[in-house]
This record gives sequence, structure tokens and C-alpha cells, in this order.
Amino acid sequence: MRTDVKNSDFLVLGSGLAGLTSALELSRLGTVNLVTKRSLMDSNTNYAQGGIACVMDPGDSFEEHISDTLNAGAGLCNLEAVRLVVHEGPRRIAKLIDYGVPFSSRLTDNGESSFDLGREGGHTQRRVMHAGDITGAQIQRVLVDEVKKHPNIRCFEDHTAVDLITARRTLKRPGPDRCLGAYVLSEAENRVLVFSASATVLASGGLGKVYLYTSNPDVATGDGLAMAYRANATIANMEFIQFHPTCLFHPHAKSFLISEAVRGEGGVLVDREGVSFMEQYHPMKSLAPRDVVARAIDNEMKRRGEECVFLDITHRKSSFIKARFPNIYETCLQFGFDMTKEPIPVVPAVHFSCGGVVTDLRGRSDIPMLYACGEVACTGLHGANRLASNSLLEAMVMAHQVSEDVEQMLYHKRFEPEVGLPTWRAGSAVDSDEQVVILHNWDEIRRFMWDYVGIVRTDKRLARAHRRARNILDEVEQYYWDFLVNRDLLELRNLCLVGDLIIRSAQARKESRGLHYTLDYPESRDALCVDTLIRKRPEVPVSPWP
Ligand code: SIN
Repeated sequence: MRTDVKNSDFLVLGSGLAGLTSALELSRLGTVNLVTKRSLMDSNTNYAQGGIACVMDPGDSFEEHISDTLNAGAGLCNLEAVRLVVHEGPRRIAKLIDYGVPFSSRLTDNGESSFDLGREGGHTQRRVMHAGDITGAQIQRVLVDEVKKHPNIRCFEDHTAVDLITARRTLKRPGPDRCLGAYVLSEAENRVLVFSASATVLASGGLGKVYLYTSNPDVATGDGLAMAYRANATIANMEFIQFHPTCLFHPHAKSFLISEAVRGEGGVLVDREGVSFMEQYHPMKSLAPRDVVARAIDNEMKRRGEECVFLDITHRKSSFIKARFPNIYETCLQFGFDMTKEPIPVVPAVHFSCGGVVTDLRGRSDIPMLYACGEVACTGLHGANRLASNSLLEAMVMAHQVSEDVEQMLYHKRFEPEVGLPTWRAGSAVDSDEQVVILHNWDEIRRFMWDYVGIVRTDKRLARAHRRARNILDEVEQYYWDFLVNRDLLELRNLCLVGDLIIRSAQARKESRGLHYTLDYPESRDALCVDTLIRKRPEVPVSPWP
């Protein structure tokens, strides 16, 4: 394979809300190359139904949103991150409104129009800005249009990032250690290109595909996280994998999400006989924080030997349900369930990773000139359990923080993209049984992660998962260096590394907290209320930013 070089001032990896916002904001400061694995529309953002949590109502307050976030986070939130994200929310929402995102509104009792604020689990107030039940899709559409027409932004679809390019300070290279860009596989050209930039933003989203059942789209294979780990960035809190309590239970529904907003509008979790059960688990009942609801459902299913539980909103008017949840209503109908007349069968599925690449409140990772924002990052906002609809909020606030920081840096110093970056070393052959190796390992990882590293964990199950993950990791690494890369192989390599990081982090936490629940240590312990940090080469000191 030949290597080709694409230069820009900034490189953004990923096209969800964090990536699109980063690209738009950085385009004020220079040229941006935006790289995305499939189309610009393929992201977790596009699937977000509920919306963006934000204090917009005079009856609500920043303090209450902060307190709800801290309660959900089970002691592990970074208070400064929570304050920043909550306080900055209204300004970022205003920006989305300027771009033209059509947030839903309603008429108040005195005939004025105001935003229709939804409620979700863990929130003590109605504060979720939404655009019907397709909030993410509306945001994605509007921002993609903006990005496409911006003269400073060049988009590269069907381009898969392979690895970050980093340089360490040496006698011959006296400049600071830093990230110089990324190697990227162009599918159309079937070769690996060098993308060189003075600052790189990882906005590559989540990792749901590490598990068998997930609400995430196929692109969510933890690529950014794996690349950052290989480049020796610090990764935190990977044990906190959030299961969304209510995904449609149907063999062909691919874990279609039934938004928490359905419970916010009165939907109640019930068993097959129609009896509600959440009062046995939490005073907020069906609107308890997600970790509590997912565990309760898991417990009810196991206790009764059932394959699912049910979500019942039939007591609301049919016209209200159809108007408030048109997408959910239509999708359920396609699968044979009329939610206005019967309870919806639901199961939990993997939804969000609360851990990720550690960043400060400017979005800086500990590799100079590598920023991270959105789901791939860990700012400390979510702690041990994310409050519903806080993730889109964090994505846009932190993308904004990144561009502010870049602007400050440029004010003091001009960075030129490095010339003469190391070229890509391609493997030597294409293997005839390649696809078999990939498919087999892909299925195996996702299944044992689901079986052994799920909602309820034990030391024994984690140890079993760890052995399996290490074997696959070794096999895939050997294979990787011998053969030409393609997207499937890159995704598999990332998937098994991320699975291994989740297992090791879960093994390290000898208590139960938030989303990490283990039968061997069922209590939370104050002395263990610290972040789980992992670095590939902890012996290499973290470099100062220039
Ligand atoms: C939902 O609509 O239930 C998803 C919202 C979220 O994950 O924050």
C-alpha cells in the first residue's frame, strides 16, 4: 500500500454531536479534516431519542440539575465538570437553536409558546429539551448540513482511523511530545493515509458493539478509546457500562430504544400479569436512576424465568402517545405492538460508556495536542452512572471547550503541522480465511461480554471473561500484523481491546457502585470511591502540554 498525506490545521475523528460541533467551532480558527467511518449521519447521536438535559424552566435551577447528576453518579462525579457542563448548557442549546434544530414547544396556560420539557429517570424536574422522539436525528441532520457547506471543513466518509500518530521528544526531535494526527484507512482507495494536523480531536463515540445486545449503531466499536490506549493516554472508569433499561424485545428489533421519556410521561414497568414492580426497588419507581431500573428488570426476569418485562403507557390518551412518540409508536407497530392498546415488551441493552479517555475541563487528554470529547472521553461528569440526557449536553459543551482552548493556544503560539511523519507499514498478504477469523472472534467477544460482564458481575465470571479476552486479543494482534488491514479487522482489534479494558477495570473495583454491581462485593465502600485508571505504559511519564 502507498501512503499519502492529508494536511489540515485540525483533525476531527468522528461525526456525532461532539465531532460535528468540534469541526464547526474549530473551522473559525483554521482548516478542519473531519474523518468518519461510514457516512456523516452514522453516529450514536443520530439514534438519541430523549434529548438534552438543560435548565430552561424558571422553576428549575442549576443546583437541582447538579444535585440530580451527582446522585446518579454515585459519589464518583467530578464536581467541577458537573458545574461547568450544567451552567454552560443554556448557551450551547441557544447555539443549536440558531443552527435551526426544531426543539418541540407547547402552549402554556396563558397562551404563550414555551419549550416542551420532558422528564427522564433520575431527574427531579422536567428539563429535557427534545425534538419529538427523534432529537438526535434532528440535531445530526442540521449540523451535517452546516458542516457540508462550510468552506474550511473537508469531510472524509468511509474512512476508518487506524491509530494515532504520536512523537516523543528525542535529541533529533527537540520539540514537545505530542499527537501529530492519525493513520486512516480509505475504503475507496484501499490504502492507509496519513492525516497530519496541529491538533487532533477524538470524538469517535461509544462502544456498545462490544456487547451482544446494544442500542448503539454498528459503528460503535470503541475505536477512539482503543487508539488512545495504544498511544498511552490514560483511560478511566471503564467498568461503568450503562444498560438502557427499556429496549424493544423482539428478535428483529436490534434493541430498538424505547425512550425513557415514555416513563417520563407516565409509562410504568410491569410484569406479564400487568403488576408494577419498581416500588419494591426505589422511591422514584419507574423513574429511578438507570442503574437501579436495569438491575431491577434483570432481577425480575431471572426471578420469574421470563425473557422480558413490559412498559405500559396505555392509560395515556392514544392521541397524546401518537403525537409525543410518533417514531416509537410507528416502530412498535411495525413489530406488531400497538403501544396505545398494549404494554410494550422490553429488555435492558448496553447503551453508554461512562468511562473513557481522561480529559481535563478543556478537553485535553494527557497526550499533548490530543483532545477528546463526547462519549469517548471521561471528564468525570457521569461518575459511576450517567444521568439521562446528560450526554448530548456534555458532547456540545466539551466540544466548545476544546475550541476555546485551541484558540487560547493559538493566541500564544502558532503550531505548524509536522512534515515527514512516519509512513504506514502495511502488512504483507491478504488471507483467504480472514473473514472467518474475524466473524468467529467478533461473535465470541460480544457473547461472553454479555454473559460474564453484564449487569450483575462476579469475580469468577470476570476471570473467565478475562482469559477469553486475552486469548482473542493475542490471536487478533498476531493476525493484525500479518495481513492487510480492512475495516472489519480494525474494528475487531479495537473491540477486543476495549472488552479487555472493561474487564480489567471491573476486576479492579472491589465494591459495587453505580453501574458496577458484583455479588462478591455488594456494598459501596467510601475508601474505594476513586477512579479506576489504566495506562498501557504507566512507567512512561505524562508529558506537559506546550
Ligand atoms: C432515552 O431517550 O431514553 C435515551 C436518553 C439518554 O440515553 O440519555
